[in-house]
Amino acid sequence: MENNMEENKALRSQNWFGKTGKDGFIYRAWMKNQGIPHDQFDGRPVIGICNTWSELTPCNAHFRDLAEAVKIGVYEAGGFPVEFPVMSLGETLIKPTAMLYRNLASMDVEESIRANPVDGVVLLCGCDKTTPSLVMGACSVDIPTLVISGGPMLKGHFKGKDIGTSDVWRFAEAYKLGQISQSEFVEAEACMARTQGHCAVMGTASTMATMVEALGLSLPNNASIPAADARRKVISQFSGRRIVEMVKENLTLSKILTREAFENAIMVNAAIGGSTNFVIHLLAIAGRIGVDLNIEDFDKFSQNIPLLANLQPSGEHFMEDLYYSGGLPAVIKEMREVLHNDALTVNGKTIGENCADAEVYNRNIVATMENPFKPNSGIAVVKGNLSPNGAVLKPSAATPELMVHRGKAVVFETIEDYHARIEDPNLDIDENSVMVLKNVGPKGYPGMAEVGNMGIPKKLLEKGVHDLVRISDGRMSGTGFGTVVLHVSPEAAAGGNLALVQNGDYISLDVPNRTLNLEVSDEELAERRKNWEAIDMNITRGYVNLYINHVEQAHLGADMDFLKGKSGSIVTRDSH
Ligand code: FES
Repeated sequence: MENNMEENKALRSQNWFGKTGKDGFIYRAWMKNQGIPHDQFDGRPVIGICNTWSELTPCNAHFRDLAEAVKIGVYEAGGFPVEFPVMSLGETLIKPTAMLYRNLASMDVEESIRANPVDGVVLLCGCDKTTPSLVMGACSVDIPTLVISGGPMLKGHFKGKDIGTSDVWRFAEAYKLGQISQSEFVEAEACMARTQGHCAVMGTASTMATMVEALGLSLPNNASIPAADARRKVISQFSGRRIVEMVKENLTLSKILTREAFENAIMVNAAIGGSTNFVIHLLAIAGRIGVDLNIEDFDKFSQNIPLLANLQPSGEHFMEDLYYSGGLPAVIKEMREVLHNDALTVNGKTIGENCADAEVYNRNIVATMENPFKPNSGIAVVKGNLSPNGAVLKPSAATPELMVHRGKAVVFETIEDYHARIEDPNLDIDENSVMVLKNVGPKGYPGMAEVGNMGIPKKLLEKGVHDLVRISDGRMSGTGFGTVVLHVSPEAAAGGNLALVQNGDYISLDVPNRTLNLEVSDEELAERRKNWEAIDMNITRGYVNLYINHVEQAHLGADMDFLKGKSGSIVTRDSH
């Protein structure tokens, strides 16, 4: 044992387990109460398994099984696995929004990794925010890191139809119109969420799983293997084996997360019709690892990328269909003319090498660049006096006829105001209106909730109107769709011009020319600003107070100003 310790001084875990005297005794002895033999401390790589398992995060409820598979792989490769929990964020249950806690969870992850004797870490991510929070935290430490996603649910079946999360919005409209009953609604719940895993469509969780694979942070096929498929355990076991090698190679996050890797991720996100939430999370990750990325990059690098994956909500199919059709490597291979194929990935190969043998088994699911499902994909960034720092829109999920539109604003000051008045028969709204929702941004909600795709009032649905231009400083679920302008920056609560919009003002959206303008003069806006007051949320203590005072605007990734960058992995002081 002593010899091994000498040979492995470079491993950071040896600053704990390799010590002699009292300190070494304390670092090892309490670990031994778990039945760990002495030779596990001999200088072999210690692999942290960062687990977001929680019964309150149903999408991640199977993660204990995955962690066991990772451990087998770590042992097989000669490492020592140690599983630890971090804050888990379940999208469906957490109020007011899981996004409020993304940065808090990232702090938990960062400090848990840095403070403990781990040489490499496997991040078990699933439901939307668990991926960015874990990757952000790990970036600020920058040790060898590999991501495993929990995998999507199998698609649901309801009354002879395949269904997934995007149908929640359709069911809600049908329920509003009396087309389905409450009991049918309840039946659909179990029909949709019938297996373990995260949302079965290209919502935010699948977007995040795709993002980590495109960035090179996971083994190939991580994005699409269903949670219920036995191969999800196999990729977890392989990941366990690989992270041990990564430690020996000192393959840290910053060696993989280059500017080219981020550009690849943006292009792949466009091709698969990924969520608008991708923008905010990728910006935050870039901010942590120190890559210069800005909101214009999302438009620039996705502008000429067509939609290659026929997946809901931009298309028709589900994540499991993507896996059966060749998985993400098949999509990436179609894009080899435009991607940085030499970008390094966690398995030590380039992204180009990883997809060299990929095949497309179903052209109804994965198209070619020459004959795509839709010519317009990716993220459009619109700017103007209503969004000087930018706002985003997802063309592939929008109504083509509304991409250039001028209409009168119907303004809701808060989400409560929207709920109170949207079904008012006297609400002055028609098919040409532009719905505007204020105070749902990072500071205003707080946490920037997914309420941007406001439901259309029943009186318009009955007339067959299913989409209007909708503008807000909030976000939209990755499973949502419509001509929805999101992430307006600066937000209303920070005094952006969005706060000054009044009912009846004309707003013009021109996506081809990337503009969003409020047709009100600067003089009039200056007058209105004299009477403007920021909403008072009366939050005086705790994390939320810290968040409100330090969160940055959406176009910067909504991270907290003091969390940007990294502090590395060195801890010099002992604990006793
Ligand atoms: Fe967890 Fe959709 S609710 S991924």
